[in-house]
Amino acid sequence: MSSPGSEPQNIWLTGASSGIGKALAEELAGAGHRLIVTGRRQDALDQLAATYPEQMTTAAADTTSRQDLENIRPQLARFGDLDIAILNAGTCEYLDVAHYDSQVVEADITTNVIGTARSLDIALPALRATRAKGKPATLVIVSSSAWWFPFGRAEGYGASKAALTYFAQSLRADLAAEGIRVVVVSPGFVKTPLTDRNDFPMPFIISAEDAARRIRAGLEKGKNEIAFPKRFTWSLKVLGALPQSIIDRMAASLARKTDD
Ligand SMILES: NC(=O)c1ccc[n+]([C@@H]2O[C@H](COP(=O)([O-])OP(=O)(O)OC[C@H]3O[C@@H](n4cnc5c(N)ncnc54)[C@H](OP(=O)(O)O)[C@@H]3O)[C@@H](O)[C@H]2O)c1
Repeated sequence: MSSPGSEPQNIWLTGASSGIGKALAEELAGAGHRLIVTGRRQDALDQLAATYPEQMTTAAADTTSRQDLENIRPQLARFGDLDIAILNAGTCEYLDVAHYDSQVVEADITTNVIGTARSLDIALPALRATRAKGKPATLVIVSSSAWWFPFGRAEGYGASKAALTYFAQSLRADLAAEGIRVVVVSPGFVKTPLTDRNDFPMPFIISAEDAARRIRAGLEKGKNEIAFPKRFTWSLKVLGALPQSIIDRMAASLARKTDD
């Protein structure tokens, strides 16, 4: 984000129909920005956009579908110079290793990695066009801090977010020469419909509104890595610095507890 605190920006936000994306759409619109919001559920997008009719427009699409994305490309072009693309759409499917099913892994990778990569088919040319006019352009990818530790049942989700973070950081290297900023957001647990399904303790969980405020603040400060809440992300960093044999023992013990 050049700086959402300064002048109004044109923002494309995916995964805006619930949870973090919805809260972020409201946070950014509340700060005066214009948004084009994407998700698969038109009703939910309409409800959101109705709160900010002057600033929000909807573009429903399944981000795993190239055709859906092509269908909304003209809408993105009509919206005006794209200052920021926030690719947040995602899912979290957990594996039950007793009934191993590769479809769980496929679902996580398809939505979180392929869906994000495909969204870039339409976001990148739009951001490049903005840069060509000498204006700042920012790509924001919502990943997760979950993959920093090998949590049981998170094989598919963790693998997808590890891949997504690598994808984003590698893009950051390639796009630096063009002056396109790439920001990675790595939340800990956030209370949303996604985590409402979880049946295990979620330490340091924060609200979606709190997450949205932290993302906006990070973008305004010009951070390229936005990770929160610190209590959670620092704990994971410290654990991750331990020898692998210790990490493995802790992960196995935690996985057994989750099964109990
Ligand atoms: N909640 C957490 O604790 C947490 C922690 C770390 C990272 N994250 C990440 O934050 C992002 C948002 O998660 P959330 O917790 O806010 O979940 P959520 O409430 O379930 O929201 C997910 C959003 O993604 C959209 N979406 C999912 N699949 C899509 C697809 N194929 N095409 C288009 N849109 C799609 C959903 O909209 P439709 O259903 O309308 O398509 C919805 O708007 C995800 O990337 C998630 O991995 C969440």
